[in-house]
Amino acid sequence: MGRADVRVAVARLALATLTTLKVGGEAEVWTCERDDDAREATREDFRVLGGGSNLLVADGGVPERVVRLGRPYADVRALASDDAWIGAATPLPGLVRRARTLGLSGLEGVLGVPAQLGGAIVMNAGTRFGEIGDVLQEVDLMLDGRVERVAANALGLAYRRSALPPGAVVLRARLKLVASTPERVAAAEAAVDAARRGQPKARSAGCAFKNPPGDAAGRLIDAAGLKGTRVGDAMIAHEHANFVINLGAATAADVLGLLRHVQERVAVPLEIEWRRWGLPGGDAALRGWGAAAEGAG
Ligand code: FAD
Ligand code: EPU
Repeated sequence: MGRADVRVAVARLALATLTTLKVGGEAEVWTCERDDDAREATREDFRVLGGGSNLLVADGGVPERVVRLGRPYADVRALASDDAWIGAATPLPGLVRRARTLGLSGLEGVLGVPAQLGGAIVMNAGTRFGEIGDVLQEVDLMLDGRVERVAANALGLAYRRSALPPGAVVLRARLKLVASTPERVAAAEAAVDAARRGQPKARSAGCAFKNPPGDAAGRLIDAAGLKGTRVGDAMIAHEHANFVINLGAATAADVLGLLRHVQERVAVPLEIEWRRWGLPGGDAALRGWGAAAEGAG
């Protein structure tokens, strides 16, 4: 395929503007409108950005391409029946609302999660009321330059975890919901909404740490007296101790410093939930398929 066929928009952008925590330097962002664009964009080493709601990015940005899916992958109207293929850039809040309107049950547990569908799958986003894995049937992945259909039970979904094949981009997913009524769906959502009511509204990336077995990170951090602790403009929220909020000018160094401080002060080991880019202990870039294909060919 010639370059002329590829319509990827490439721009150098500050990742702070594309993440909910509003931290992080620049990268070359490739916004893909079609599967062929995603194929081209993943030829060289890359990272994938969804809604940026579970990400801490280094102040210096990242050297790799950042691949994003554009508008054709973000259509909530694709949810039209209890069994539907949905683009991976579709905002989860829109899907939750649409499911309620249509009287389809299964997404109530992810109410209030500001993800895109693809990012929700990778993190298996959810609450104790349910997670995205509960309704996921199968996905189309861009993998090694090819589109592969993979069943949900092969994705290793568990608490805030997945085991996608390395180098995969989720392009779209098939969700199976259950016929119900808007009233019943709304009633189920009310319980989730109530459980979330104490969470801060300020800029954050959701809970910073996973809950350790049998306990809650928020309870442990609160009990250690750490609410309101600050490093630079990063602060442990007063409303909920597992949320780190950006008071305005927080840097990745501030945020990491605060996380380390928490880990030192809480006796139980706490595992960071956020994905980290360009930072110590963070996620490695994904390998582009081009080098391997050229090596083989
Ligand atoms: P990103 O943050 O953009 O990315 C997360 C990971 O997924 C990265 O590794 C990224 O490379 C990968 N990724 C994203 N899209 C794709 C794709 N299409 N293909 C391959 N890889 C991809 N989480 C919960 O589970 N429960 C909650 O209740 C919850 N509440 C939150 C509340 C707030 C206010 C905020 C800010 C966050 C909250 N979160 C919660 C965290 C966050 O919303 C979830 O982790 C969510 O799943 C992240 O999705 P995203 O699209 O923003 O992904
Ligand atoms: N708690 C405190 N102090 C705090 C915060 C919490 O004592 O500052 C106590 C609460 O009183 C409760 C327990 O800790 O007894 C658990 O708190 P909560 O009900 O708020 O739930 P959580 O375990 O902290 C989890 C998810 C959230 C999700 C809510 C929905 C994790 C790490 N967190 O929070 O997910 O929204 O349940 O109820 O699993 C996320 O993953 O990013 C996230 C926000």
